[in-house]
Amino acid sequence: MTVYQASATAPVNIATLKYWGKRDKTLNLPTNSSISVTLSQDDLRTLTTASCSADFEQDQLWLNGALESLSSERTQACLKDLRTLRKGVEHKDASLPKLSEYKLHIVSENNFPTAAGLASSAAGFAALVFSIAKLYQLPQDLSEISKIARKGSGSACRSLFGGYVAWEMGESPDGEDSKAVEVAPLEHWPNMKALILVVSDDKKDVPSTSGMQSTVATSDLFNHRINELVPQRFEEMKSAILKKDFPTFAELTMKDSNSFHAVCLDSFPPIFYLNDTSKKIIKLIHKINEIEGKTIVAYTYDAGPNAVLYYEAENEDKILSGLKPYFENIQGFKQPQTVTSFDFKSFIPEITGVSKIIATKIGEGPKETSISLINESGLPK
Ligand code: DP6
Repeated sequence: MTVYQASATAPVNIATLKYWGKRDKTLNLPTNSSISVTLSQDDLRTLTTASCSADFEQDQLWLNGALESLSSERTQACLKDLRTLRKGVEHKDASLPKLSEYKLHIVSENNFPTAAGLASSAAGFAALVFSIAKLYQLPQDLSEISKIARKGSGSACRSLFGGYVAWEMGESPDGEDSKAVEVAPLEHWPNMKALILVVSDDKKDVPSTSGMQSTVATSDLFNHRINELVPQRFEEMKSAILKKDFPTFAELTMKDSNSFHAVCLDSFPPIFYLNDTSKKIIKLIHKINEIEGKTIVAYTYDAGPNAVLYYEAENEDKILSGLKPYFENIQGFKQPQTVTSFDFKSFIPEITGVSKIIATKIGEGPKETSISLINESGLPK
């Protein structure tokens, strides 16, 4: 039995200018452009092996050890596009095996708990699409491939690049110009760090797909956000990244997170992603910046209560000193070298609800790897 295979890893990305709203649900076309920072795969990544064989009977996917359905419209859209591109390759060179006609076996694993509420679908779809693109030896560039990942999950298109990434919303109804592009590579501004404060929460969030549908349909503030605020911030944030202007980058990041949660609250019925823990962390970050006399750290929140903090490596000690009074006993907290003289506890007495801290940094885009999750007969190892 001949099994063709390719393996790749893909990163998580956390938006600093949020994607929230679709103008086309099937094609995952957004109502605004967005920007993100790709996080290091040392700490958070999906590893996927894609294989195909004339002997496989059906498309199958194993995710973190369990057989999962491939039948969702989104996954089907990705597989269809990839097979069409492969057909083009086979058409040009008739000697190539007809992989586009073979069934696929895909095995995928995250190096972080899926349950932590971290953006796993972005890394997941990016790894799926990138590994199949490698298996099929597609000549298309990463922006082209990002359009396929976008159909799986909007934010996934940004995980095709490392460093600082923009998803240009595009105008075309067929989505051909709605793609991810690199704003700046990791090497341009490599000292960007990210600290993820995992906040435990019992209530079930509104999933982002239905949450954004509700916002588009009911929020009065939403049009102001997509027509006025985001287009201007998109240009300002790209320019702040190119200039490595942290205070501007950080201020825009915080304002845009707040604006996104404001349109959630303005949806009807309202959507609440931030909880009391999230809100106390917001206050604490503003306090740390105030004491410093300049903006050295930014917070941002996605469709859940977890905080992601961005800062430059040289300021890490100051930030950890501000967090220490609350989180020094939490798993993953790194002790600062110096101790702050400011009495934070007199300002916010306590912050409970953080269960884990992941200290990470900016990272690279998807990579092909020789590590395979599939054996010679095309089944998970
Ligand atoms: C708040 O990409 O998960 O994280 O396209 O429906 O799969 P779908 O949504 P998804 O939404 C992410 C929303 C966000 C903001 C962002 O990542 O830009």
